Amino acid sequence: MSRSEELEIQRSFSPNWKVLEQLRTRFLSENFSPKSYWDSTEVLNQYDYTFAQRIGWKWDAVLSELQETRCFEDLQSATLIDWGCGTGIATRKFLDLVGHRFVNKIILLDKSQLACRFAQESILKKYPEIEIETNLSKSKLEKRILLVSHVLNELSPAAEKELLSLIETTVLVIWLEPGTPASSSKLIEYRERFRKSFSVLAPCPHQEVCGLLKEKNSANWCHFFAAPPSQIFRDSFWSEFSKRLQIDLRALPTSFLVIGKSPQKNTGTKRLIGRARHYKGYSLVLACSLAGVLEEKLLKRDSKQIIDIIDKNRFATWLP
Ligand SMILES: C[S@@+](CC[C@H](N)C(=O)[O-])C[C@H]1O[C@@H](n2cnc3c(N)ncnc32)[C@H](O)[C@@H]1O
Repeated sequence: MSRSEELEIQRSFSPNWKVLEQLRTRFLSENFSPKSYWDSTEVLNQYDYTFAQRIGWKWDAVLSELQETRCFEDLQSATLIDWGCGTGIATRKFLDLVGHRFVNKIILLDKSQLACRFAQESILKKYPEIEIETNLSKSKLEKRILLVSHVLNELSPAAEKELLSLIETTVLVIWLEPGTPASSSKLIEYRERFRKSFSVLAPCPHQEVCGLLKEKNSANWCHFFAAPPSQIFRDSFWSEFSKRLQIDLRALPTSFLVIGKSPQKNTGTKRLIGRARHYKGYSLVLACSLAGVLEEKLLKRDSKQIIDIIDKNRFATWLP
């Protein structure tokens, strides 16, 4: 579905602000609660038209980057697992953007059975032929791709353990979280845990210890900015959503980690972390490379071309 089609459907959606505000409060809460907030199809529906769309735009950015780096080239006949699937936005984006030709079967896992059913129906609406299960099969022979999206602040220690042991059985893991210092730090912890048994495919341009773990980088965190569709800035619903829930529509900060069994293809490059800071005559960038995470000063007169690239605010900016 194209972005303008998505927004077209949105126009027929009737927001329930009380439900949306409650969800927002729940997502911002740092306290772990074992109780599921998916207590009706209405709550799932409200989420799917709003928060899930914003998460979907982040998936657009990450999956496009992975396609550019030919990350899916070696995949065939895989089982796609969406852990903590919610309404299934991660799976739908994967099927829409990467295509369902790689996927034999989908497994939707969530502690809420209501969410699993909702996700299953929303996927089948568009892909009626696809096989979907809501339990993990015992077979270790299948080639598994794991999608994980926005679950970190809800994980109990037992759930985290279960998820990390599931990773051991996969060939590709794509994990997206909000671009906060806390998410970044957790994903870096997982990167360090898995980087010897997997290739680190993104966002890092190298396989060595993460440069952000150095003491001098303690104030920095690994995050990037996805772009929402430009139409939302002219859309009365999204404007109201932004005002009521105090969400800045322009910013979609994302932390993510992609690890897999195939070799990384963009090793040796340098990637911009976060956004560049522009000053009169120069810009400061935080650049990640094999040499570590270093702040660089780019003088406009010397690096006009580079600063033009940075100004485009792409999700992935590669520096020379
Ligand atoms: C914020 S929602 C994100 C949903 C979806 N992944 C997305 O990106 O839109 C977090 C999801 O994780 C699920 N979840 C939380 N703890 C879980 C657990 N222990 N096992 C499975 N799912 C869990 C919740 O039920 C919820 O659907």
